[in-house]
Amino acid sequence: MATPSNASSASSSTASQRWSSRWLFVLAAAGSAVGLGNIWKFPYIAGENGGGAFVLIYLVCIAAVGIPIMVSEVLMGRQGRSSPIHTMRKLAKASGRSDRWSILGWMGVLAGFLILSYYAVIAGWAVSYIWTSGSGTFDGASAETVIASFDAFLASPMELIAYQTGFMILTIWIVGRGVTKGLETAIRWFMPLMFLLLIALLIYSFNSGGFAQGFAFMFDMKWEAVTADSWLIAMGQAFFTLSLGMGTMMAYGAYVPDDANLGTTVVTIAGLDTLIALAAGLAIFPIVFANGLEVAQGPGLTFVTLPLAFGQMPMGSLFGALFFLLLSFAAITSAISLTEPALAYLVEEYNAKRQRVAITLGVICWVLGLGTVFSFNIWSDVTFVGGLTFFDTVDYFSQNILLPLGGMLITFFAIWLLPKGMVETQLGIEKPIIALVWRLVGGVVAPLGVLAVFLSTVWPMLSGLWQ
Ligand code: PFF
Repeated sequence: MATPSNASSASSSTASQRWSSRWLFVLAAAGSAVGLGNIWKFPYIAGENGGGAFVLIYLVCIAAVGIPIMVSEVLMGRQGRSSPIHTMRKLAKASGRSDRWSILGWMGVLAGFLILSYYAVIAGWAVSYIWTSGSGTFDGASAETVIASFDAFLASPMELIAYQTGFMILTIWIVGRGVTKGLETAIRWFMPLMFLLLIALLIYSFNSGGFAQGFAFMFDMKWEAVTADSWLIAMGQAFFTLSLGMGTMMAYGAYVPDDANLGTTVVTIAGLDTLIALAAGLAIFPIVFANGLEVAQGPGLTFVTLPLAFGQMPMGSLFGALFFLLLSFAAITSAISLTEPALAYLVEEYNAKRQRVAITLGVICWVLGLGTVFSFNIWSDVTFVGGLTFFDTVDYFSQNILLPLGGMLITFFAIWLLPKGMVETQLGIEKPIIALVWRLVGGVVAPLGVLAVFLSTVWPMLSGLWQ
């Protein structure tokens, strides 16, 4: 472990880097936030849990839980100007707290590894479907053919590994080039392209003949479908979709210019993420309904229902390919953010070359990802605690345990343990009433909300183990 003195001297690499503008930070953070979660998860859970009523609940969760945690992460990152591990160490020292708070940074590094290991595999599926769809494989195909094609793809480890490897190489190449040359260049290209693709798909879906039904599925106020569980689902989704709890936003926050207003910046990021999740639903469901298909979620919706629906539509192979391109762009801008906490730490700690560290991290993540690849074929019968496959275990442990724990502790630290003046200066809070609202929402509502989600997902698992 580094002593505080060598931590601060070695951290100059992060300390000296900045996003070129506030807008680049907004785009980079939105790029991290908008990912697989927005496109294959949000639209479906909104439709199933009350449509417009769920959208309202979700907005409350974004405002009361998501935004305060994101503000906490970014403000701590900007104050510490280092990787999350060193930032936590510095801030703990500055507030007279134990050095052990740096464990939060370590948890983030671990979560980043675990999430990226499977994210690269699934993003690889999206990349492969750009060709499969674009070459007309699904034109007029039956449901059996589309399902058989997806099953055959999953059953072939070599094919999955080839796409996973390609995606990892691209991710590592981008992050190895550094903040300005690597991350910013990728973001400048991928984010506008992603917006354009989404608009093209929206226009296509508007003319598909199923728009009214798709719109009703997402936005009709179905309060009778809202349960206590819907609140927990909304809160969990708000959390994952904004990339919170693992120090990503803290790592990105370290590069935020001093004069950027954190409150408005974070609200813009959360707004963009929500807008894209809603637009994704409006781009997807009309196409599904226009073809009389049942909605589903996750891989089933993305790799079976949608190819089937596109296959029945005019110019379906082109728009199908564009949809998978959109998904791949969304995934890559999230993937690059997943490496930043670990990358920044190793560069600071060992004064190492960013490229070399990126390659090392990439190889470790790639090896770990093989476990996910094999979970869909040769290891599909190998299960761990709770009967989960390797992939399910990695997903469960990172998403349901590490992220919520991290998020809860980060806001708690930011609001109750950091010196009061430090937070208020960072946020530009002058009025005592605003400071009070910030403490109540960020310091009480947000951590308790995350605690509720955490207990509701972990408790059934634990009680199952004891029985
Ligand atoms: N926000 C991403 C999504 O919605 O798919 C997932 C994610 C990316 C989570 C980066 C955490 C993270 F650090």
